[in-house]
Amino acid sequence: MAHLDPALLAHIPGDMGWPVIGRTVPFARDALSLVSSMRDRFGPVFKVSLLGQDFVVVSTPHAAKQVFLDREQIFSSEVGWESSIGSLFSRGLMLRDFDDHRIHRRIMRQAFRRDALVSYLDLMHPVIEEHLDRWRGRGEFDVYPGIKELLLDIAVRVFVGAPLGPEADAVNRAFIDSVMAGVSPIRSPLPGTQMRRGLAGRRYLVDYFGGRVAAKRAAPESADMFSRLCHAEDEEGNRLTDDEVVDHMIFLLLAAHDTTTGTLSAMLWYLATSDDWQARVREEVRGLPSARVDFDGARSMEATGLVFKEATRLHPPVPFSPRGVLSDTEIDGVAIPQGVAVSMASILTHRDPEWWDSPEVFDPQRFTEGRAEHERHSHNFVPFGGGAHTCLGRHFADLNAKAVIAQVFSRFDLAARPGASVTFQAVPIPKPRNGLPLTLRAA
Ligand code: HEM
Repeated sequence: MAHLDPALLAHIPGDMGWPVIGRTVPFARDALSLVSSMRDRFGPVFKVSLLGQDFVVVSTPHAAKQVFLDREQIFSSEVGWESSIGSLFSRGLMLRDFDDHRIHRRIMRQAFRRDALVSYLDLMHPVIEEHLDRWRGRGEFDVYPGIKELLLDIAVRVFVGAPLGPEADAVNRAFIDSVMAGVSPIRSPLPGTQMRRGLAGRRYLVDYFGGRVAAKRAAPESADMFSRLCHAEDEEGNRLTDDEVVDHMIFLLLAAHDTTTGTLSAMLWYLATSDDWQARVREEVRGLPSARVDFDGARSMEATGLVFKEATRLHPPVPFSPRGVLSDTEIDGVAIPQGVAVSMASILTHRDPEWWDSPEVFDPQRFTEGRAEHERHSHNFVPFGGGAHTCLGRHFADLNAKAVIAQVFSRFDLAARPGASVTFQAVPIPKPRNGLPLTLRAA
């Protein structure tokens, strides 16, 4: 898809920027500012060139509904995501379309049923405890790297089923290399590039999982996601092949990691800087029968759930959902020709004053009954996307965040340095720009 014949996009307003690099530099510096200013200048449908590819950015709830529900099978997720993560996370669930996607999703769903989620929670708790023990007595420190390490270890334990240790470090390294390659500007695997390291990381993960599938299949099903995928079967008895299990495991690591890390970091920041909400969450957590929250306990964490939603509204971990357009269509009154890449920008939808009161303000109360701003349109709040590709791990992410929050606030009170501010970058991965310096005091 890359750069298109300019005539195809001539009728669409926008700014393609410099030859070759387009608007990549301001995008990398501050994606939210760039696309917000372009939307203000050009309207809700505009063109831009980023990372060597031309996009038409769309962002209204109506566009979100059209693209995500995709009733006429016009928008290809595989084609949309191919140029950024195709070679590194190939044949992952999001890189499949239509019937093929449906078959795989139906099998994979078995690893996300309630009984599976309950067992994942059990695996998570000791990892969280081990990490938070190390946070004790540190005073002010950068919490973001700590959250990242914690969630990598949770992934190794819950997804891979491996004990922590040197092997976990190698899996983490390979995985981080692949993720960073997915968002690096140089796309060919030249010596010394991140792309080359990323592809080597993928090969390591393919060998790692590939070498263990047979044993996982032969053993009785265990609590981890890898084992569940090896044994998963849909209602008609379809199962995944060994290669498919490997591809899905590698993609799941990607889908889960930076998304949950970014959301938890944003939650901790807003809780550290909002006395009211910290008090509500603390009270909620300390009223739980145990800091090792169970499935129903997590569901009862209403205040934490509101903060989770508000964090994903302000900082959607997947701020853009790209799609390849397979046949001519129209979005918000603008003709979109076949062959174009559309990027559905939830980062804009979530801050549109037409759909949200004071959208820049952290205000979890907006999701409560009575206000329910997220229900002003079926698609004005889409942190987990929508339609066939709706995030498969959304309940997992919610449980994971609540399990961590329950442990954090049963042990600590949180504070930010007076006057300190943090900005969150949206790309290449969602994260606080300054490492998130917070003070943790024993409760
Ligand atoms: C706060 C955390 C998370 C957010 C906000 C999030 C968001 C999203 C979004 C927006 C999509 C759809 C992208 C598109 O349509 O282009 C997606 C897809 C997906 N996510 Fe998540 N995600 C999160 C965590 C997770 C976790 C923890 C897992 C796994 C345990 C996961 C697994 C997946 C999978 C498998 C897909 C592909 C679904 C498909 O194509 O059918 N996600 N996620």
